[in-house]
Amino acid sequence: MKPKILVTREVFSEALNFLGQHFDVTPNQADTPMSPEVLATALADMEGALTTLSERIDEALLAKCPKLKAVCNIAVGYNNIDLKACHARGVMATNTPGVLDDSTADFTWALILATARRVTEAEQYLRAGKWTGWKLKQFLGTDVHHATLGILGMGRVGQAVARRARGFEMTVLYHNTRRLSAEIEKSCHAAYVSMDELLARADILTVHTPYSPATHHLLGATQMAKMKSTAILINAARGGVIDDAALVAALKQGALAGAGLDVFENEPSLHPGFLKLSNVVLTPHVASSSEATRRRMAMLAAENLVAALTTGKPPNLLHPPV
Ligand code: GLV
Repeated sequence: MKPKILVTREVFSEALNFLGQHFDVTPNQADTPMSPEVLATALADMEGALTTLSERIDEALLAKCPKLKAVCNIAVGYNNIDLKACHARGVMATNTPGVLDDSTADFTWALILATARRVTEAEQYLRAGKWTGWKLKQFLGTDVHHATLGILGMGRVGQAVARRARGFEMTVLYHNTRRLSAEIEKSCHAAYVSMDELLARADILTVHTPYSPATHHLLGATQMAKMKSTAILINAARGGVIDDAALVAALKQGALAGAGLDVFENEPSLHPGFLKLSNVVLTPHVASSSEATRRRMAMLAAENLVAALTTGKPPNLLHPPV
């Protein structure tokens, strides 16, 4: 008998077909989001799960799923998974690193340019039929070229964002828990600075840290007060790293010039203040969503699940934090 596995959300057919060669698969191609109760019932006699960031995998759930051996997330971020609880129960957890760095970096640049040059605001104006003709002072934006880009969190995606900044002839500064090797700094043309210097000097500050208790509200009112009032803030990493209420207040008061956000605290709901502001570009957590990349992510998660349940050695096994 093949091991039973659950696929919690809709996936591409090639990933389902691949899983079907190894497992007795319960899919969810209707893509109905599962409440914790529904998920616990669906997983009760499963050995594996292909999950997304919409499902919370915690001790309360694991306690109800005694046969579960592996949870393979279709995402590089894994703040929806309690790794300690998984480890304690002998459940392997995996993510999808590497395959989405370039697409996420591309999208970060889409947010940078759209926010600095007011692209969505200008388009909305035009679509609303308000355009009566060319004006010298229409939709004056902020130049990206030759500006100072600050990168908070210099992992794979942060580095890919830095490399793209060369085309705009920018000064690139970064802050990270660990300073990178001189070789990587050189390849990214990026200089390491303290958090305070990053906040003070960045014209554009972009966040690329994972979300964890250590990065919760890493950018709050205190940090925003240290930024230039002309600066823009970009987040295509995770909600919760920025204090959204503090950001809404800073944008309203003119303490920051704008923000480009793909992720939010309490997704899919967002702070209502964002919707009232014209100086924000808002997208629904789609930074990695190019067709090719989302296919690669689903396939890599499926490969992890097959390896986990057949060899016990998935390529992207996550270790609990020490
Ligand atoms: C998307 O947000 C991911 O973590 O892959």
